[in-house]
This record gives sequence, structure tokens and C-alpha cells, in this order.
Amino acid sequence: MRILSGIQPSGVLHIGNYFGMMRPAIALQSRGEAFYFIADYHALTSLHDPDALREHSRHVAIDFLACGLDPERAALFRQSDVPQVTELAWILGTVTPMSRLELAHSFKDKTARGVAASAGLFTYPVLMAADILIYDSDVVPVGKDQKQHIEITRDIATRINETFGSRKQPVFKLPEAQIHAATETVPGIDGQKMSKSYGNTIDIFGEEKETRKRVMSIVTDSRAVEAPKDPANSTIVQLYSLFATEAETAAMRESFRAGGTGYGEYKKQLFDKLWEFFAPMRQRRQEIISDASYVDNVLANGAERANAIADQVMSRVRAAVGLR
Ligand code: AMP
Ligand code: TRP
Repeated sequence: MRILSGIQPSGVLHIGNYFGMMRPAIALQSRGEAFYFIADYHALTSLHDPDALREHSRHVAIDFLACGLDPERAALFRQSDVPQVTELAWILGTVTPMSRLELAHSFKDKTARGVAASAGLFTYPVLMAADILIYDSDVVPVGKDQKQHIEITRDIATRINETFGSRKQPVFKLPEAQIHAATETVPGIDGQKMSKSYGNTIDIFGEEKETRKRVMSIVTDSRAVEAPKDPANSTIVQLYSLFATEAETAAMRESFRAGGTGYGEYKKQLFDKLWEFFAPMRQRRQEIISDASYVDNVLANGAERANAIADQVMSRVRAAVGLR
């Protein structure tokens, strides 16, 4: 089984990235051949600051390793270290209907939030399809916001197979998204989906003081300390359940219903759990940062492994479409 996923280096990683994509990806690395990359070409659709792009790319690598990505098992690399992916995106674009891309939620959401409607942003899903198909991927662990992109990928692969393949010899495999219901959309401190672009994140490796401040500013209703509270619609309970055991979460829900405890107290409990949860990863991160060449070596090795597969698939694709 080949597993693939990517993450954009458009900012600092947050706990939505961790539970939605990084943890599932790390869990899968022992189950097959895993390829995880830093989607720097994609980040260029929203970030035009070269120093920031370099800095974020490096930190995504460091943070992913700190969280448990094992480079002996999974190949970790930069998307742009496999430039053939842009060639494949071109080929895929020639069979992709405009109308399919016009229906993409992410394009509509991003432009509504003020990201420039560039051709690159519009064809973002085509490059993402190339990312997935160039490694003959079987499984793609992602958060729910990426579901439609995987559907578009399957659609494009099917069109290529129908146009250039045969039933016996399809050009591409059809990949499956892997989305876990419990973590498909992690809420931010305002209760909306946690996202870099909403300014509602809690970062995985934020400073202690800042992280506490963010947790303490989770939006709640204005029920008084004594009043019973609703655990079903609480961002605090939802986030707490990511870090606590089931019994601990059940106890918090029960205490909500009983009343007598203020939201501030629950936020403290959430902060303590969260801070403890990432403690071993913070330590590992310090070790990784202190060895300057480690990350470079990991990325170089990952790029080599990724290129070996991409070269094979591209030879097949070029022959199938008649470029060779
Ligand atoms: P991005 O930051 O858009 O590159 O997202 C990287 C990965 O994290 C993707 O698989 C997203 O689906 C996932 N992700 C981002 N935000 C969340 C969230 N709030 N909840 C669950 N998954 C998320
Ligand atoms: N679009 C993804 C995101 O914003 C990042 C990404 C790019 C990706 N290419 C991919 C994810 C291929 C999975 C597979 O999160």
C-alpha cells in the first residue's frame, strides 16, 4: 500500500493540522510505503514572501519530524524537489473540465477571504491531483476540507484512463481519501474550523504564555458559574476530547451538565492536557533544531526516494499520452 499526503508551508502548524492530517499520516507510516511532502508550489498560491516560504517549509519539516514522522519509514520531501509534478499537472489540466474546477469549494472560500483569484489558485486541484497520481498512491490521509480535492483527483484519473488507457492497462490507480470522523474538522478558538487564515489557531509548538492565552480566549456563551452548561456544542469539550481519555471527557461533560464550574476552569484543564500532550514532541523538536544538517539530510533522502517513483510513473504517462 502506498500512502501519500501533503501540507502547505503557508504558516505555522496548528492542532487542526496535527489531528486532521499529521497524526493519521504518522500512524500509517508503518502500514505501507509512505510519502509525505511540503506543498511549497501550492503555498505560492497564497504566499509571495520568499523568506517566509523558505522558513515555513523548513519548520514544517522540523515539526513533522518532532511529531513522530520516522524518516526511515516515510519519505519526507519538498514538493518542488520533484518538479515533474508540474509537468504531470499540465497533462492532467488538458482533460480537466473548467466547470469541475469552478465548483471547487476551496477556490470559492479562498477568493471570498481575499486571496487573489490567480490561475494558479484556480488550477490548485489539478496540481494536487498530480501530487497524488505521480506516486501511484492508494491512500491519502487528510482533513475533511480536502475531501473534494480527492474526488476531483479520482475524476481526473478516470478521464485520463478513459482517454489514454484501456481496461486492462489503466494509466492511473484511483486513490482513496482517509478521513477520520472524530478529527475531520478541529474547531478553532472561535468555534469555526481551525485555520491559519481565520486567525483562530492554537499552534502545536506555540510559546507557553501565548498558547495559554489562546486557550483562555476560546469563545463560550455567557452562562454563569452556577448554571448548568451544554457540553454538546462546546468547543472546550471538543478540543479536550482530543487530548483526554474517554473517561476524562465523560467527566467533563457530566460536570458541564451539573453546573457550578465556570468556563475558565475548564479552559485551564484543557490547557494543562494540551501542554502535557505535546511535551515529548517539544523536547524532540529541540533536539532536531540543534542538529542543523539532520533536516537537510532527511529532505535530500526523501526527495531521492520520491523522484525514483515519479520518474517511473512519468515515463508511463508520457508514453501513454504520446509525448514519447
Ligand atoms: P493545510 O494547512 O491547508 O495545508 O492543511 C494540511 C492538512 O491539515 C490537510 O489535510 C487539512 O485537511 C488538515 N487540516 C487543516 N485544518 C484542519 C482542521 N481544522 N481540522 C482538521 N484537519 C485540518
Ligand atoms: N491541498 C492540501 C491542503 O491544503 C495540501 C496538499 C497538496 C495535499 N497536495 C496534496 C494533500 C496531495 C494531500 C495530497 O491541505
